[in-house]
Amino acid sequence: MPPIPSSEITPEALFWNRRRFMQTALAGAALTIPGCAATPSASNPTPAPDASAAPVATTLPAGQGTVAGTSDELGQPLTDFAAVTGYNNYYEFTTDKQAVAAAAAGFVTNPWTVQVDGLVAKPRQFALEDILKLGNEERIYRLRCVEGWSMVIPWSGFSLNKLLALVEPTSAAKYVRFETLNDPERMPGQKEPWYTWPYAEGLRLDEAMHDLTLMATGVYGNPLPPQNGAPLRLAVPWKYGFKSIKSIVRITLTDTQPTSLWMAAAPDEYGFYANVNPRVDHPRWSQADERRIGDTGRRQTLMFNGYADAVASLYTGMDLRKFY
Ligand code: MTE
Repeated sequence: MPPIPSSEITPEALFWNRRRFMQTALAGAALTIPGCAATPSASNPTPAPDASAAPVATTLPAGQGTVAGTSDELGQPLTDFAAVTGYNNYYEFTTDKQAVAAAAAGFVTNPWTVQVDGLVAKPRQFALEDILKLGNEERIYRLRCVEGWSMVIPWSGFSLNKLLALVEPTSAAKYVRFETLNDPERMPGQKEPWYTWPYAEGLRLDEAMHDLTLMATGVYGNPLPPQNGAPLRLAVPWKYGFKSIKSIVRITLTDTQPTSLWMAAAPDEYGFYANVNPRVDHPRWSQADERRIGDTGRRQTLMFNGYADAVASLYTGMDLRKFY
């Protein structure tokens, strides 16, 4: 049993759906609920990936793209290509991390458009080809999932602020809301009633305008594969991974704080800011440390995932304990 019954931490409807899911799909197995985290057990208080998720190769497949860097700015080596593209969270396809790549294979991302609207002077629908012209720089970022695992990933793309500049946010704009494609026929996970689809996320406008906030269009020197959020997804490295929304079709500037899919699903567990903070535990497990995929032990989680020098000033005067 989880330390806290699901009924206490989820809305009732979600609880019953989870219960049905667990009864039918996971009877007798180690319990995993369809939340942004496996349910921890007493012997494993922070959910760790399966041993089978450990990287099996250290090189790119022959003929794949090239990556300039081999480590992040802290000297931490890149997570293996096989793990980055084979161990994913993408609930639109499946909640089984190691089955996402197969489930998403063949997902068609061309043609693709992104609507950018709301409180902007020049709302516009962008064709993917035009978005891709905004840049293709390599950025090696740590990704820290709220579940307690992490990776070092070589993304490519451009700062989101380049795209936002083109639509000219008005002075009334305070937040940015992002939305994933809504197409249950192509994304069968969206037929499941557990969540309010489509996946949505949000940032404060100054967070969205920060240079570190990346619109990723590639990984490991190649266009994003479907499982990593093709054709474009966010990478916000100082926040828990669930903020880095995949397969974006709409970006809306607003004056009110957007509600994300996770905030709606479990408001007691997932907040708007979701900045990585080792001192603020998830209600069901510690966030003090993490397992880097490919490592056997655990390492301490860094404040703002190690990006404090760049982003801490965004939160001056705010109570960091309330950010969850
Ligand atoms: N975006 C969408 N649309 N759907 C998802 O299920 N999962 C999030 C995030 N973006 C998710 C998503 C979570 S919980 C994490 S940890 C990261 O994607 C994982 O990104 P990766 O699979 O490329 O490592």
